[in-house]
Amino acid sequence: MKKQLYNIAPKARWIRQGHKSGVLWLTGLSGAGKSALAVGLERFLFDKGMRVFALDGDNLRHGLTGDLGFSHKDRHENIRRLAEVAAAFVDSGFIVVTAFISPFRVDRDNARRKLGGQFHEIFVKADLNVCEERDPKGLYARARAGEIKNFTGISSPYEEPYCPELILNTGEEEFESSLARLLDYALIAFADGS
Ligand code: ADX
Repeated sequence: MKKQLYNIAPKARWIRQGHKSGVLWLTGLSGAGKSALAVGLERFLFDKGMRVFALDGDNLRHGLTGDLGFSHKDRHENIRRLAEVAAAFVDSGFIVVTAFISPFRVDRDNARRKLGGQFHEIFVKADLNVCEERDPKGLYARARAGEIKNFTGISSPYEEPYCPELILNTGEEEFESSLARLLDYALIAFADGS
């Protein structure tokens, strides 16, 4: 089926709202801090009057991707759907902040291809031992005990980005420093809709 052209061009939305749209694609291990960064960034940009929405893997898995598990195949499909949803938000003028492990390069690269220059890959980098030590949801302990299969970092791979737009070393620096660097990046990336 041929794609319908937009009635309202994305650029016209940018000019009206005074900022560009795009995706800040946060990727990293469970427990690296993706969700907290996404929520912090969303609040900051919202308070500045910008159109922003955070999408979180844990939340989407209750609905849109509720039929999917954590096999390679299901994760590919999870990220494919995410990229589609994110692209629709971007076309509607929004800044989207995604917080998904998105462990496979091929899936992130597909999202990059789909979104072009509006895709910003942010590597939320914390070593496995740091995430496992934090273990905020107790999932690493359960994965080590063999109760959870295909757990990223333990029994399923995480492929680090080769060339992300930004690396946040959440394993080493304070959360507030990482958040501040993300805010700076976003303000520059989406500044000015003209
Ligand atoms: S992704 O790999 O497909 O991108 P997604 O970000 O949607 O994953 O979901 C990850 C979240 O699901 C984790 O933060 C964790 O709370 C939960 N989870 C449950 N089982 C697993 C698993 N086997 N591997 C990783 N995360 C899991």
